Order: sequence, then structure tokens, then C-alpha cells
Amino acid sequence: MKILITGAGGQLGRDLIRVLGQAHECIPMTRASLDVGDEAAVRACFESVRPDAVVHAAAFTQVDLAESHLEEAYRVNALGSYYVGLAAEAFGAKLVCVSTDYVFDGMKGSPYHEEDRTNPLSVYGRSKLLGEQFVQKVCPHHFIVRTSWLYGRGGNNFVTKVLALADRQQELTVVDDQFGSPTYTYDLAECIGRMLATERYDTYHVANSGYCSRWDFARAILELAGRTDVTARPITSQGFVLPAPRPQHSAFDDRGLRKNGFPPMRHWRSALGAFIHTDWKLEETEHETN
Ligand SMILES: NC(=O)c1ccc[n+]([C@@H]2O[C@H](COP(=O)([O-])OP(=O)(O)OC[C@H]3O[C@@H](n4cnc5c(N)ncnc54)[C@H](OP(=O)(O)O)[C@@H]3O)[C@@H](O)[C@H]2O)c1
Repeated sequence: MKILITGAGGQLGRDLIRVLGQAHECIPMTRASLDVGDEAAVRACFESVRPDAVVHAAAFTQVDLAESHLEEAYRVNALGSYYVGLAAEAFGAKLVCVSTDYVFDGMKGSPYHEEDRTNPLSVYGRSKLLGEQFVQKVCPHHFIVRTSWLYGRGGNNFVTKVLALADRQQELTVVDDQFGSPTYTYDLAECIGRMLATERYDTYHVANSGYCSRWDFARAILELAGRTDVTARPITSQGFVLPAPRPQHSAFDDRGLRKNGFPPMRHWRSALGAFIHTDWKLEETEHETN
């Protein structure tokens, strides 16, 4: 297949190229080469590439900044998904639209499955949900893939932030009352590859299995990276106020994957170990030699 990838410069985008590029022709589009919020540019891109499939990974992902940059968040996350959905439908391309656990309010108290009621708390969550709804309206051949707590190579994510802080501090404070499923972008890219080989169009929750608090996650990062000299101290989110509210418990139930016959995702801890021992170690070595 010829697969167009939007947001190709992001952490998921890079792993999509790495994974899908093994069996397919990937056409990577970074923000500089395609602004998804520009309808004419999106159409022209599809016109020239004529892809068989598109993985729409571009997004305005700065959750806190989105609160004060509402127009740009909606332009990219809602309208961008609309334009990509329209073009995918017009050119007969399968569409994977990547979305988020932040479409939920986190109040359910148990893992969310795909049919659960959405109720985003933030501008980011609302703009992503509107993007999903546009895609559902305009492009029947879609996979909506909600994911959570992503980390991957070259990304500015929780794992790299914890490890950078560990180089400077003996003790880190981390919230222990937010729960979710950390997800390695490489594993997500593999799952997207499996979906694209089918026509099992649906909405999916795709995260590494199991869930944990941010504090558990930080402790696992330090342990797996051999940083047992640094401790993580738990605090409540009341002591760590951010501009955008986060869902408190946004772990996923992978009912969609099971229903459609896709294999389960490996456990978050095993994926984290794989990331730290390969991609992160490699980045560290590159950093040291530069
Ligand atoms: N990160 C998470 O924890 C998380 C959790 C759940 C869901 N998701 C979703 O997963 C997907 C991938 O996220 P990620 O973690 O890979 O994010 P990321 O690293 O921030 O990548 C997003 C990419 O989109 C690009 N972009 C921003 N505005 C654009 C525009 N107008 N046109 C084209 N490209 C644009 C960004 O370019 P610049 O780098 O130039 O800004 C960036 O390269 C997104 O849909 C996100 O909403 C992420």
C-alpha cells in the first residue's frame, strides 16, 4: 500500500514510518510539508499522492496551551480531521484517525470501552472529539484509534521528562491520583499496521494493557533505567494544578480489538522496558557522542 502519514515529525509519526515502512511505501508529511488545517493543501496533497491509506497522526497536542489557543486547537484537531476525512473519502483511501483518552472525563471508575459516553474536560479533548465526529460523518472507511499516555523515540513525553529530571534531582514529586495506560508508539504503530491490512472499520481503544498511576509509572521508569538513586514522592493533583483538567482515571478496555479479532497489546511495563533498553539507550548514546 501507499500510505500517507500526517504529523510524520511527531513521536507516533516517526514510529509509523519505522514500522509501516517495512512493508509499505510511506509518504511522510510533517507540519512543514502539509498543514492539515488548510483544506486546499490537504486536497492537493491527496491529489498528488493518491494514497491507498492515510494515518492521520497530526494534532495540536499541547494540552495546556490549547486552553488559551482554542482557535488553533480546533483548526488543527477538529477541522484538520474533517479535511483529511473528506479527502480520504474522495480518493477512496482507508483512514486511521488517531484520537485520545481525553475524550472521557475519567469519572467512570473502571476502564473505558469504546461505547462509553464521552465527556471531555479540556479544549484539547473537545477538539479531538469533534475531529472524531467529523470523520464518522464524512468517511465511512475509517478506524478511529483512541490511545493514551504516549511515549516514543525523540518525543518530549513523560518518560523522557522523568529521566531528564532524574539527572538533575535526587527526588521527584509525581501525582498518584491520575490513572491511565502508558503506550509505546512503536506498539501502537504495529497495531495500526495490522488494522490497515483489514477492512474492520470501527472505533478502537489501543493502549498497552494494564494501567497505573503517574507515580507508579515514574517509579517503573526510574527502576527500568537503573536510576534507583532517585526517588519519586507521591503528591495529589490538588498540589499540582495545571491549566487543563485531566481525566482522573482513563484506562482503556480493549473490547474493540477483541471483538474484531486483533491480538491484545503487551503489558505497559514490558513495553516500557523495551523502549528504555532500545530507543532511549540509543538516544542517550547519540547524545553523548554529539
Ligand atoms: N502524546 C500523547 O500522550 C497522546 C495521548 C493520546 C492521544 N494522542 C494522539 O496521538 C497522535 C500523535 O501524537 P504524538 O504524541 O505523536 O504527538 P506529537 O509528537 O506532538 O506529534 C504531532 C505532530 O503533529 C504536527 N502538527 C501540529 N500541527 C499541525 C498542523 N496544523 N498540520 C500538520 N501537522 C501538525 C506536529 O508538528 P510540530 O512538531 O511542528 O508541532 C507534530 O509533529 C495525536 O493525534 C494525538 O492527539 C497523543
